[in-house]
Amino acid sequence: MPQTLRELFVEQFRLCKVRPTETIAVISEVGKKTEYVEAAVSAARELGAGALVLTASSLSHPLLPPYTADGREIPALLAAAAECDFVVDVTVEGLIHSDVRTRITGNGKRMLFVAEPDNVLERLIGSVDLRRVVEDAGAKLKAGNVLHVTSAAGTDLTADISGKDLPVTHQWGYVDEPGRWDHWPSGFVACFPHDRTAQGVIVLQPGDALIPWQRYVRDHVTFTVEDGFITEVKGEGSDAHLLLDYFESWDDPEVWAISHCGWGLHPTACWSAFDVYDPRTLYGQELRSAPGNFMWSTGPNRFANRETPAHLDIPMRGCTVEIDGTAVVRGGRLVSE
Ligand SMILES: [Fe+2]
Repeated sequence: MPQTLRELFVEQFRLCKVRPTETIAVISEVGKKTEYVEAAVSAARELGAGALVLTASSLSHPLLPPYTADGREIPALLAAAAECDFVVDVTVEGLIHSDVRTRITGNGKRMLFVAEPDNVLERLIGSVDLRRVVEDAGAKLKAGNVLHVTSAAGTDLTADISGKDLPVTHQWGYVDEPGRWDHWPSGFVACFPHDRTAQGVIVLQPGDALIPWQRYVRDHVTFTVEDGFITEVKGEGSDAHLLLDYFESWDDPEVWAISHCGWGLHPTACWSAFDVYDPRTLYGQELRSAPGNFMWSTGPNRFANRETPAHLDIPMRGCTVEIDGTAVVRGGRLVSE
């Protein structure tokens, strides 16, 4: 029998090591995702923890321009969150690329974003095994110097990932240590290659995914990448035109940047999710986590002081991902040890 949202939050909070001495802050937007707020509060109480709900008028960004940053409510939000131990973000888009996230986790707080429908939360909830797989993959990124991605469709991209200071995002879907952020559910690893080092060509093929457009690519699209930025978008079908229109509409050079790159590791994440579910109810974690996908992204990069709400995550099928010449993904399948 499927678990209720409240039962799922209890299970998740146990993974997050919520203790009775702790106070949980739930960050939300007024009138949005109220069932998540109630489930989080109820689960915290069941585990003996305190729960404080911090509701902002809005923390969402427009999906298309015009866009003007407005952070008036942020200082008060941060002040209250600083008094709590564990921050659960149930805002619509998540405080993912924002300063708010960095300032909360930088204070040693655990922070978890939750957005997917309950069935996805249940099917893809994290585990110790998944955590180990993600950590192993992250160690390979940390130890590497050059990321090289190729595909039969024509992708041939390199990026500099050298150095111990490479920012690597390990997402296994729960937060069980201080200062850790994650998104329930997740199962992937990603890094931010050194700024302005990505070079080459990325070729999308039908069936690859566009997030947050929440749909599959329909036509081949070729991106030329020079010094970390997309410099050309070409293709015969409508997708090249739509992507070009999207990038140009922001009138901001930052939206053309290559952001994070990595690959999916969740053994039970399904590529078909955008067709099986109503895609507009999904946040896209299942596609991001699909095992063996190569996911790259555009726009914001807090490690390069690049802030823009224009962010595409693009999981691709059929790629080979190599680190210093050793494949971690071959032809869209994870390479087992
Ligand atoms: Fe992303």
